[in-house]
Amino acid sequence: MIVHDPDRRLWILSGPSSCYVLHLDEADRLRTLHWGPRLSHEQALSLLRLPQPEHRSMEDPADGVLDLASAGGLRYGQAGLQVRFADGTRDLDLGYSGERRTDRELVLEFADRHYPLTAECHYRIYGDSDVVERHLVLRNAGEPLTVARADSATWVLPRLSGYRLSCVRGQWMAETRLHRGELPYGETTLTSRRGVTSHQANPWAMVDDGTASEEHGAVYSCALAWSGSWRLTAQRLPTERVTLSAGAGHDPVTWELGAGEELVTPACAGLYTEGGFGSASRAWHDHQLRHVLPHAGETRPVLYNSWEATGFDVSLESQVKLAEKAAQMGVELFVMDDGWFGARTHDAAGLGDWHPNPHRFPHGLGPLINRVHELGMRFGLWVEPEMVNPDSDLYRAHPDWVIHRPHRARTEHRNQLVLDLSRPQVADWLHRTLDELLAKNDIDFLKWDMNRPFTEAGPDERLWLDHVRTLYDVLDRLRAAHPHVRIESCSSGGGRVDLGILRRTDQVWTSDNTDALDRLEIQHGFSQLYPARVMGAWVTDSPNPYTRRQVPFDFRFHVAMAGALAIGGALTEWSQADLDRAAELVAAYKRIRHLVQHGRQYRLLPPDGELSAVEYLAPDGGQLAVLAFRRARRFGHADPGIRLRGLDAQARYRDQTTGQIHHGAVLLTHGLFADLAPGDYASALIHLIREKG
Ligand code: DGJ
Repeated sequence: MIVHDPDRRLWILSGPSSCYVLHLDEADRLRTLHWGPRLSHEQALSLLRLPQPEHRSMEDPADGVLDLASAGGLRYGQAGLQVRFADGTRDLDLGYSGERRTDRELVLEFADRHYPLTAECHYRIYGDSDVVERHLVLRNAGEPLTVARADSATWVLPRLSGYRLSCVRGQWMAETRLHRGELPYGETTLTSRRGVTSHQANPWAMVDDGTASEEHGAVYSCALAWSGSWRLTAQRLPTERVTLSAGAGHDPVTWELGAGEELVTPACAGLYTEGGFGSASRAWHDHQLRHVLPHAGETRPVLYNSWEATGFDVSLESQVKLAEKAAQMGVELFVMDDGWFGARTHDAAGLGDWHPNPHRFPHGLGPLINRVHELGMRFGLWVEPEMVNPDSDLYRAHPDWVIHRPHRARTEHRNQLVLDLSRPQVADWLHRTLDELLAKNDIDFLKWDMNRPFTEAGPDERLWLDHVRTLYDVLDRLRAAHPHVRIESCSSGGGRVDLGILRRTDQVWTSDNTDALDRLEIQHGFSQLYPARVMGAWVTDSPNPYTRRQVPFDFRFHVAMAGALAIGGALTEWSQADLDRAAELVAAYKRIRHLVQHGRQYRLLPPDGELSAVEYLAPDGGQLAVLAFRRARRFGHADPGIRLRGLDAQARYRDQTTGQIHHGAVLLTHGLFADLAPGDYASALIHLIREKG
């Protein structure tokens, strides 16, 4: 999988259909010679005979082509590695010092020619995925130095006829809205300065030559596995060289690296694919299912969450009533949200005091948990353990535990402050508190929330790294000690979704926005990188509590079925007819969820048109589910056939509801006519199974 040619100073890292070729030039600069379709050793060697970037007198021709892009010499482009030595020297002058290698891992070692600083580039490949993972390790054996930027990877694109950037932008209640536009010259930086991944941007990017479509074209993409502040710079030089460089941290945060210390960056994954954006997304989904998610083989249960039903008005009685209704409709996991602990009867008190509110749960959580289990469901609990309300016992006992600076007000948001997890005693408290909560109560699932970004970061800038490291460490230890517990990552909805958190959680809360129409766009953007099985999607009440939009019952269900289906409505106010219909729709989801959660996703029609549709195809192609949505009908417009993907043209497929037989060849060319009800907000779930023989 990894081939080294020591004479030519070349390394070839191959995946099933792509490869990544590195070359050390005569000055020990590490160049990316190729990132694209798979090449043989001989073909890769021939790259060395291609004309190299011409030498221009004003700058280093290696600018924009280096895998290890350190600041120094005549390079003025974006540098993924920037340090300031104790004497003020800023440039690095790295010489190659060796390599280590296994079948799947490669480490290239560099040392500064004067200062006792080493840099290691770590690469990892997977035999069944085209993802290349890269991270950096810095070791300082000299006087303390400052790290201004240490990107996990710098991905170098080949010269293309044009460059287009795809990424997502958003805000609270409107996450992951896809943006696709020409990559401007200069540096385009996607970033979070919030200490958390953020709603505003997500740490991934895709670049194509401007002609790729959902089905066709080469796509170069990368994604950072990090849940704190981050920065991803897409650089387009006037010479038409393009790089994507990503790492933890943000401008202007720097870190001290003391004598004898090392800095290990998070991993950044790079992926080259052909077959358009759809193929790129499927490759990312597949990779996460195989190599990132902790329990990808499991079926995500149908979940109920009490937040929109009860808000902070939580009691044993109200939760039991909801649980009984939820169980009747086929819910498998009942989650009690905020409001169960301390003095948390509103959002200004109690956060930090993780014991059941004695008035609301006089006998602890046991009676509720037992009832939920008796009803045949698992029990989940909301926590927000990185936070504290100033009006809490924890804060009164430890006012110094929050992120703050002397001489500055402690900025509150939602009446809360962030605990400083870089402090060992806070990290210990966090672990102990959660560990005890899980040990004392029969909890199957945690919804782990994080509702405010950092302000007034402490004097040690390492906090930006160490908060996330502690979070990861605590999650890892809790999962090891309580292996049956599953975890949902939430940050006011989708503020903490990334490959780092997904390595240690089982699903995410996609957005606080549960309006089905808005969701179509949010889910479309989410699916560009992340798989449907982690995308928590609730059916809530109509009119929607946030947008006031009225959307029919089935449409709301069908939209949520495109991910990990959950219910979040005020069930005690639902009519019996709605409860019965919900039970039917939950049952329908259970029949197709193996396709949604383990199948290949095809975005058939995007949500910006009148009609949109998404398909989930079984890995063996034997069956598929299509969810189709018409949001508004214009007079005189007939629904087009929805052309399906990935089918066997020779096969016949039977509709599991109508019994009708469809021919693969016809579905692929003329499409499926979903027979949607007339009018606005029409939707359908179609389940097709290939006929035998
Ligand atoms: C924000 C989450 O996104 C909501 O789902 C809910 O859990 C609230 N926090 C509770 O405070």
